[in-house]
Amino acid sequence: MMLRAARRIFPPEELRYIYKSIDIIGDIAIIKVARRHEAYAQQLAEALLEELKGRVKVVYRQAAPTKGYERVKILEWLAGERRSITIYREHGCSFKVDVEKVFFSPRLQYERLRIARLVKKEAPLKGGEVVVNMFSGVGTFSIIIAKHAPKVVVYSIDASPHAYNLMVENIKLNGVEGRVIPILGDAAKVVKEKLMKAADRVLMPLPELALKYLDYAVEAIRGRGWIHYYDHCEGRRREDSIELAKKKVSEKLSNLGVDFRIVEGRVVRSVGRCLYQVVLDVEVLKTCK
Ligand SMILES: C[S@@+](CC[C@H](N)C(=O)[O-])C[C@H]1O[C@@H](n2cnc3c(N)ncnc32)[C@H](O)[C@@H]1O
Repeated sequence: MMLRAARRIFPPEELRYIYKSIDIIGDIAIIKVARRHEAYAQQLAEALLEELKGRVKVVYRQAAPTKGYERVKILEWLAGERRSITIYREHGCSFKVDVEKVFFSPRLQYERLRIARLVKKEAPLKGGEVVVNMFSGVGTFSIIIAKHAPKVVVYSIDASPHAYNLMVENIKLNGVEGRVIPILGDAAKVVKEKLMKAADRVLMPLPELALKYLDYAVEAIRGRGWIHYYDHCEGRRREDSIELAKKKVSEKLSNLGVDFRIVEGRVVRSVGRCLYQVVLDVEVLKTCK
């Protein structure tokens, strides 16, 4: 798509500098522009609007990497309608997203479905799983899980008021009120105050904090359960990054006296040169030996 749009502006020898990947969130496209093409950024965005007519109505460029604990991208509006809010659809759910105010990545689509499929639709005697999502964003994982497994209850925590407010709207939009419980606050504090030994499954989709907050994920588990741990790990090969994540988690859980086994480790996506987002599915067998 980007190449086709770029061909409208640049001679063939410039095309190798074009960033080919685009994030399309609802009808908003987020592109990257090479420094040597900065003067042409707007033209490129308009060419893309033309190329994706009807499907994309706004084009932003990522001006700097994600920042702060909210992991929000620094964006610059380039072309199309002057708005940052859109509705994004995934796995039969709809999400209101403000691309300037919250983290959002369409690249986690497969991972969100993978986790939803692991959640038991109905646990005998208990009625359904209790899930704690420590870093929910606009509620994506939580709502997809709730849609997939009707008896599940998901405590869905986020520290950003922007993400929390959108999550509240998204819960209504998808009709999962009462089963996805939105909570505004720091995940560690919320677990300590309200969710000790409450969960069968804990999600930690924030690589920057996951290792630090692993203690709280363990405290949220009621005796036995699952932790889905996300991290950014270096590695010459993808397998090396998985091994590194396993080493970090094993050390920490052993120090905490947890009886566990790492059942699955996979690369979710590449996030830089020799840097990968990795997920580990950890089965907690007993929280204290
Ligand atoms: C990477 S995003 C989550 C994305 C989400 N899982 C998704 O698939 O769209 C991480 C989120 O963690 C939130 N966050 C950061 N620090 C936090 C904390 N201490 N407690 C709770 N949430 C936190 C941020 O506001 C952000 O929305």
